[in-house]
Amino acid sequence: IGGVKINKDDVVRESDPANNVPDSIFSKLGLQLHRRDHHPIGILKNAIYDYFDTNYSNSFLKFDDLCPIVPVKANFDDVLVPADHVSRSYNDTYYIDAQTVLRCHTSAHQAELLRKGYTHFLVTGDVYRRDSIDSTHYPVFHQMEGFRVFSPDEWMASGMDATSYAANNLKKTLEGLAQHLFGAVEMRWVDTYFPFTNPSFELEIYFQEKWLEVLGCGVTEQEILKRNGKMDNVAWAFGLGLERLAMVLFEIPDIRLFWSNDLRFTSQFSEGQLGVKFKPFSKFPPCYKDMSFWISDAFTENNLCEVVRGIAGDLAEEVRLIDNFTNKEGMTSHCYRIAYRSMEHSLTDEEINQLQWDVREAVQSKLNVVLR
Ligand code: PHE
Repeated sequence: IGGVKINKDDVVRESDPANNVPDSIFSKLGLQLHRRDHHPIGILKNAIYDYFDTNYSNSFLKFDDLCPIVPVKANFDDVLVPADHVSRSYNDTYYIDAQTVLRCHTSAHQAELLRKGYTHFLVTGDVYRRDSIDSTHYPVFHQMEGFRVFSPDEWMASGMDATSYAANNLKKTLEGLAQHLFGAVEMRWVDTYFPFTNPSFELEIYFQEKWLEVLGCGVTEQEILKRNGKMDNVAWAFGLGLERLAMVLFEIPDIRLFWSNDLRFTSQFSEGQLGVKFKPFSKFPPCYKDMSFWISDAFTENNLCEVVRGIAGDLAEEVRLIDNFTNKEGMTSHCYRIAYRSMEHSLTDEEINQLQWDVREAVQSKLNVVLR
């Protein structure tokens, strides 16, 4: 399915209890911001392509049109995600049915491309995660996966062992990329864990007074190579978040802006122009509304955020837990503060009150909680 809107009724059985994909998410399928040459996400993709084309003489094959609806096997099993890993839960991942998900990372395509015999590739696509609401999180975002396989003669000549050779090459490649995109920027490597790489690293960049994680990477687990016909090789992989990088590069303060069709946003970017600083066209005031309720055992913040987005859409800027206590009877109460703010106009009191009213109704009826 390429660049084509996906019709919900064609992929979801209405009655399937395993489906947890709301219409608001379905409406994003097929939009492919990463394939728009005048959109910051597309501009960034093309700049990364340029870096690899120039430094690796076009040896990386590029895929940016692979279908985001993938088997559970491809998204998790093929990249060695353990059966009990949290990322597999209905709370974290969108399931179309018990065997099919909206990919939660572009790593979902590693195994299939290896099996096809590719050794150098870049995969760009929209990925989907259930999550909380704030200025750097959105349930749909874009990643680029990079993958490179080495053959024995490459590391033998270096005198290094295969893993050190690949890890070295990986860090050099990504530092070069960061340099190409940012020039000078404060960054740091952090050791981490991924099921599909060992060793594993994260690269963080300093932005708006915080360290922002922009990519994960590492030396590919041997088991993945072995299963897919690359017995005698070593490889590295990375997965980078395009929104996070684009926010830093273009100084875009809120992740919701990427989805805006407002000309005051879209007209500020043009093909090939990396890092033109975004000029905020509005600082409309936020409006805060608090909501308290007794939670049930099944309550999760991700579910709450999905209900809030279902009603308020992109007017919801942040949902934050501000109070949490358990009474003598063992009942737990949460108070959440919702920030509403439009990028496009000043919200009226009537508008906000109506929204908050509708959110309260929906929270009560869908989440099995008792409002206080
Ligand atoms: N798939 C990882 C994520 O989404 C990123 C990653 C890709 C890490 C490849 C290591 C190797 O967080």
